[in-house]
Amino acid sequence: MIPPPFLAACRREPVPYTPVWLMRQAGRYMPEYRAVRERLGFLELCKSPDAAAEVTVTAALRLGVDAAIIFADILLVLEPMGVGLEFSRGDGPVIHRPVRSGADVDRLLPVDPAALAYVMEAVRRARAALPAHLPLIGFAGAPFTLASYLIEGGGSRTYARTKTIMLGDPGAWRALMERLSASIAAYLNAQIAAGADAVQLFDSWVGCLAPADYRTHVLPHMRALVDAIRPGTPVIHFGTGTAGLLEAMRAGGGDVIGVDWRIDLDVAWNRVGHDVAVQGNLDPTALLAPVPEIRARAAAILGQAAGRPGHIFNLGHGILPQTPVDHVRALVDAVHELSAA
Ligand code: CP3
Repeated sequence: MIPPPFLAACRREPVPYTPVWLMRQAGRYMPEYRAVRERLGFLELCKSPDAAAEVTVTAALRLGVDAAIIFADILLVLEPMGVGLEFSRGDGPVIHRPVRSGADVDRLLPVDPAALAYVMEAVRRARAALPAHLPLIGFAGAPFTLASYLIEGGGSRTYARTKTIMLGDPGAWRALMERLSASIAAYLNAQIAAGADAVQLFDSWVGCLAPADYRTHVLPHMRALVDAIRPGTPVIHFGTGTAGLLEAMRAGGGDVIGVDWRIDLDVAWNRVGHDVAVQGNLDPTALLAPVPEIRARAAAILGQAAGRPGHIFNLGHGILPQTPVDHVRALVDAVHELSAA
């Protein structure tokens, strides 16, 4: 049986064309998603397995991409820790009782996997509804990025509070990262058991770190986490602003390294080594440009990948809400046409 191109590329096997999927492919830019959100709040949607599965499958089929990604959020795993997670309209996510000390770390509740059973149910239903040849990606936040939300209480520009604990109280930092790594590994293994064909770790904000701090305070936890994920399931290790960290991220683990657009794909691939697959790396704002420009940008990235096995086309970060759906479709078609030629 021929493996689907996305899974073949994760394993650096030859593919008939370059597989493509897009981070945040189910989101506000899509009218079908907005229609579901008229009825359900964001958390409510995440906790409704039928609706979450429907949003997952609709986006993948509408776009013609080579993988679906389960509709959920990296912050859901924080809710059972008892920190008061809220997605407020306009302001983005808020943690009402952030972690500011070692005592706060000790007060975090252990994550009972049953508290996230709704995600596994959505995975099961999405897997059952998808065509058999279309892989389903499960995901979780990586420990650093989740720690940053727990500590800052939301997004941040400087990550000053996060770094204050990381550098000032290494014992508390290590305890927090160990707890997060163990919870994330169990959560990803549960998604795999429910039917996820691959998993992605989103270390979205790790690019704020100096390389030495990444190696000391993040890498060992990533390594332990990746080692605890069920063997045989491809792991995508993604971050943004990581041009200074690529070798260290590679050492952290993963079958595929996700890169953003602030570095050329060929340069990034040389840095991580051609014995690992890469995912990326179109600037999401390029999708706001006219279609001929989008096609030219896609061609340039495919040129840098140079037909080597192990390239998964993606954006360097999530689709922006103002993106025209037609442009997203045009990108998917362009990647398929240009890479098959
Ligand atoms: O990619 C997909 O289609 C799957 C679904 C998915 C969502 N969030 C849905 C979502 C995935 C993979 C995520 C990951 C996620 N969530 C990340 C890592 C990726 C990245 O963007 O760096 C992060 C940092 C989060 C945390 C988060 N969730 C933020 C900061 C926000 C608010 C900002 C925003 O875009 O609204 C969310 C909410 C969120 N997660 C939305 C969606 C579709 C928008 C909610 C809505 O209003 O409907």
